[in-house]
Amino acid sequence: MADAHALALDRAVVVIGAGTMGAGIAEVAAVAGHRVYLCDTSEAALDRGRAQIRASLDRRVAKGKASAEDAASAFARVIAAGPSAPLQGVGLVIEAIVENLDIKVAALTEMARRVDDDAILSTNTSSLSVTALAARLPAPERVAGLHFFNPATILPLVEVVRGHATDPALVETLVATARAWKKTPVMCQSTPGFIVNRVARPFYGEALRLLLEQQATPETVDAVMRECGGFRMGPCELMDLIGHDVNFAVTRSVWQAFFHDPRYQPSLVQQQLVDAGWLGRKSGRGFYDYRDDAPRPDVHDLQGPAPARVRIEGALGPAQGLVALLEQAGLNVEKTEGAGLLRVDGVALALTDGRSAGARSQALGEPVVLFDLALDYAASKRIALSVAEGTPADVIAQAAGLFTALGKQVSLLGDAAGLAVSRTVAMLVNEAADAVQQGIASEADIDAAMTGGVNYPIGPLAWGRRVGLDYVAAVLTHLSQGYGEDRYRVSPWLQARVREVSHG
Ligand code: NAI
Repeated sequence: MADAHALALDRAVVVIGAGTMGAGIAEVAAVAGHRVYLCDTSEAALDRGRAQIRASLDRRVAKGKASAEDAASAFARVIAAGPSAPLQGVGLVIEAIVENLDIKVAALTEMARRVDDDAILSTNTSSLSVTALAARLPAPERVAGLHFFNPATILPLVEVVRGHATDPALVETLVATARAWKKTPVMCQSTPGFIVNRVARPFYGEALRLLLEQQATPETVDAVMRECGGFRMGPCELMDLIGHDVNFAVTRSVWQAFFHDPRYQPSLVQQQLVDAGWLGRKSGRGFYDYRDDAPRPDVHDLQGPAPARVRIEGALGPAQGLVALLEQAGLNVEKTEGAGLLRVDGVALALTDGRSAGARSQALGEPVVLFDLALDYAASKRIALSVAEGTPADVIAQAAGLFTALGKQVSLLGDAAGLAVSRTVAMLVNEAADAVQQGIASEADIDAAMTGGVNYPIGPLAWGRRVGLDYVAAVLTHLSQGYGEDRYRVSPWLQARVREVSHG
């Protein structure tokens, strides 16, 4: 049933900008049944935009997602509109032109004169302040952000962005309209990076930290994040795909917009790549070499002897899933009281808690091999280990042997506090927690945004609850103490949730 709040189908939609995003958004609105006026200052861009829509609709027909008649009528609903064409019955304007505030203000001011007074004015901006844009238009309360993801015809997520003056009823209309267009809307306040581009920063930032400190190679970080963390792509290969110029610019703009908060600090590693012109796939080189189908460097896998005896000393917390795996593997397993360690033929192993292996070994009074957090210890194909400098090779081999006996591949990082997955997940949860604390978006919408917009295997807050928010807070506290940096400070929201659990 149609949602009464959604934009009525007899109201037309104007899309300003017939580029990659504008053409995609115009197609989505036309397929949903609206008449769409597609505008662009360039005739050639309008032709290209219409050709993009035609080709995309043809693909829908070929895949059986639309009938030839429906595709033809959707295409007929897209009207290329010149600068003086009459625009009738317009209920919604979506601006998708160059990412420049002055140019966007000028285009929307001009469009506001051409459409009905009650038309909603929206912007597809990824990085500009919706509040600042709205303030420069005649009726700021009728302005909001409507942020689609590329390709707009395929990715379901739409961030509906509320500027400081935006009328709440208008947000409701946009959410209902996005749903009627078969999209997944999430609501957020106008804030740097909105939800996705803000909460995702640590995914890149922590990987860049590991590379800066020479704790791992890009291929090892990627393999661990994919095969242990369960992410669809590793951070290095993803940055290569996005383009280092684009990724670096987004990080810089979020960092600047947050008044240089160290959480978002850009990395010298990425600055070097940008300076070198190694922008990733599009320039043939980034972290990896894409010229002439050059093969990816191999990931070095550790091997070790099968363990004769395994002792589980106490509860393993978020790594408790390993217990069943060890038992199923037919190993000689003994359980005792203890501080949450695995002992393999005398060698101590522990899940990282954000301290380095050096610090942890010192606290324990014996060398300890740390292992990383996995999304799912049963399903993961890889595990990462880290050891203190000077740890004997046979100790490392013994630890590796435990995981090879469970059918996992094993990567050795340097003595990286929080290894790769654990520190990244902790920082993603922390970022999401701060966004909730600051009223940027709801828990549910943040999780929906990160799974729907960037394909995370599970929303960060659901992930935090799964491993235990106390574990996340402990990892962050240890990182903060180890680095002595404000970057790893624990969100007040997270601290409050941890207190609730310990008191409840
Ligand atoms: P694009 O460069 O492909 O297209 C922009 C179009 O706007 C061009 O056809 C240009 O001729 C036209 N244009 C420029 N000034 C105009 C004006 N004053 N009036 C009418 N048309 C004008 O750009 P793209 O990638 O489609 O991005 C558009 C907007 O969407 C930007 O704000 C961008 O930040 C945002 N965005 C882009 C995403 C992406 O992955 N490309 C993802 C999400 C948002």
